[in-house]
Order: sequence, then structure tokens, then C-alpha cells
Amino acid sequence: MEVTGRRDDPALGSVVVAEDALRARVAELGAQISADYAGRTPLLVGVLKGAFVFMSDLARAITLPVEFDFMAVSSYGSATKTSGVVRIVKDLDLDLSDRHVIIVEDIVDSGLTLQYLRRNLLARHPADVEVCALLVRDGLQQDDLDLRYVGFRIPPAFVVGYGLDVAEHYRNLPYICAYEGT
Ligand code: IMP
Repeated sequence: MEVTGRRDDPALGSVVVAEDALRARVAELGAQISADYAGRTPLLVGVLKGAFVFMSDLARAITLPVEFDFMAVSSYGSATKTSGVVRIVKDLDLDLSDRHVIIVEDIVDSGLTLQYLRRNLLARHPADVEVCALLVRDGLQQDDLDLRYVGFRIPPAFVVGYGLDVAEHYRNLPYICAYEGT
């Protein structure tokens, strides 16, 4: 279903991941996680705010019992570039001891936010920590990041929609598209 009106926004560029492609890939990721974690109850840790749409769909594609928690971080830097200095704005509510944690991220760009988060969560003595990232920016040096589940690798353009924003706008677009505003 094409969403007219919003697509008339001149700041929005081409669609990078369409709605049906998102649906199909999220179903695959859910099936993979369900198989990998059979017999366990993974704890999904969503990184607010960007991951909330993806996490909601992903969780419903997982056929195991799952638990949820959320963290909000803000990274210092300009609007479209992170500096790697991360501050926890909202911490987890749950104890991670012996839990099978899956960090659910919207997009991995430099990987600095994720590196910080993984280190921070590992210090809380979980059984293990894996990462499920909907998007990974092409060209990123990912060897050190150890991304277990990846939805799509995308070109360098800044993107919005499906949880991703520019100044809190566009999070509710049901697809991911390039942002061409200033
Ligand atoms: P990293 O630390 O450079 O990997 O940046 C990751 C964070 O930057 C993501 O969780 C997003 O919040 C934000 N980000 C990076 N690229 C984009 C984008 O294209 N659109 C919206 N947010 C982005």
C-alpha cells in the first residue's frame, strides 16, 4: 500500500527498503532467532528510540517466549554524526545475570554506539550478548562488531522511517527512505 501525502515531502528521497522487504526480512530474522534460541527465553534489549518499531515487529516474529527491556542512549556529536561518546539516558530495569541478551538496534553506522553498549552490558554478567541490527551502513569495518543478525546493508545515504528519525520526524513511515533535507 503506497502512502501518498508523506511521499510528497521534498525532504524525502528514494525508498531504500520497501515495506514488503522489511516484512519479509523481519520474518526471516524472527525465524532464525527462534531456531537459535530454542528452549531459552531471550531478553530483547531495544535501543530507544530508533529500534522501537523494528523491535515490535521482530518480537512478534519470534515464536519463543521473550522478555523486553529498553535503554536510551544519547551520543554527543552533530545531528547526523556520532562522536562515540555515549551517555545512558534511560538504563535497563531488569537484571542481566545469566540472561541471553539480544541487543536490538535500528542502524549501525560507525559502530561506536554498539561497541559502548556491548561493553556496558557484558559487564553485568549476562550468559551471552548478541546483536540484531536492522540496518548496517555499507563500508563499515564490521569485523570487530560481531553482528550476529543483520537485516539489510545499505548505502551511505542518511535514512529515515521505520523508527529512524531526523529531529524526531519520520519515525512512523512504514518504509525506509533516504533523507535529502538539510
Ligand atoms: P553509530 O554509533 O555511528 O553506529 O550510530 C548509531 C546511531 O546513530 C543509530 O542508533 C541512530 O540513532 C543514529 N543514526 C546513524 N545513521 C542514521 C541514519 O541514517 N538515520 C537515522 N539515524 C541514524
